Amino acid sequence: MIVAVDGPAASGKGTIAKALARHYSLPHMDTGLLYRAVALNLLRRDGDPESEFSALRACDFSQIDFADPELKSEAAGGIASRISAYPMVRQALVERQRAFAHQAGGAVLDGRDIGSVIAPEADAKLFVTARPEIRARRRYEELNGMGLAVHYEDVLADIQARDDRDSSRATAPLAMAEDAVLLDTSDMDVAQAVAQAIAAVERRVGPGVGKAG
Ligand code: DC
Repeated sequence: MIVAVDGPAASGKGTIAKALARHYSLPHMDTGLLYRAVALNLLRRDGDPESEFSALRACDFSQIDFADPELKSEAAGGIASRISAYPMVRQALVERQRAFAHQAGGAVLDGRDIGSVIAPEADAKLFVTARPEIRARRRYEELNGMGLAVHYEDVLADIQARDDRDSSRATAPLAMAEDAVLLDTSDMDVAQAVAQAIAAVERRVGPGVGKAG
C-alpha cells in the first residue's frame, strides 16, 4: 500500500506520516529532507542558490548524512524552498522517491507533490493543512523548545513566504491532488489528527487493509 501525505510547511504532515507508517508497519520517507540535503550541500560548498546548475551539482547523494541536525535548520529549509523550484533538481530526486514508494509492501511518503507527481497511483492520499498562524505558532514553539531565540512574527513571515514559493513555482507546485482527502489540523491535537488520518486511509482502502502481519 502506498500512502501519499502532502501539505504546506509545519502543517503536521510529517507527524501524521510517521504515525501512519508506524500504524501500518510501513517504511517512511520525509521527502523534504532530500531537498534540505541538497540545500545544505549547496550552502557548505558556497554554491549559488540562484543558479540551477549549481543546485543540480549539489544533488550529489554520496555526500548526505540524513541524521545531520542542520538539515532541520531554518536556513536549510529556506534554501530548500528556493532550489526545489528548479526542474533539474526535482528531476534528479524523482527516481529515488519513486523507488522508495514502489518497494515491496509499499511505503508512506510525505512532501508537496507525492500524490500529484511522485506517486499519483497511491492507494490513499492525504492533504494536511492548518491556518498559517497556527502553523507558525507550532513552528515557533518547536524552535523555542530547541533553545533558538526566534520571534513569532518572523516565523509567520517565513511560513507565508515559503507557502508562496511552494505554491507558485511552475514545476510540481504544492497543490492538493484531485483525489486527496483534506485534513485541516488547525483545531486538532496530534492524537485527533492521527485518528482522522487513519480513518481517511481506511475509507480509501477498507478496514484492516495494508496492516502488516
Ligand atoms: O517539508 P519541508 O519543510 O522539510 O520541505 C523543505 C522544502 O522542500 C519545501 O519548502 C519545499 C521543498 N519540497 C518540495 O518541493 N517537494 C517535496 N516533495 C518536499 C519538499
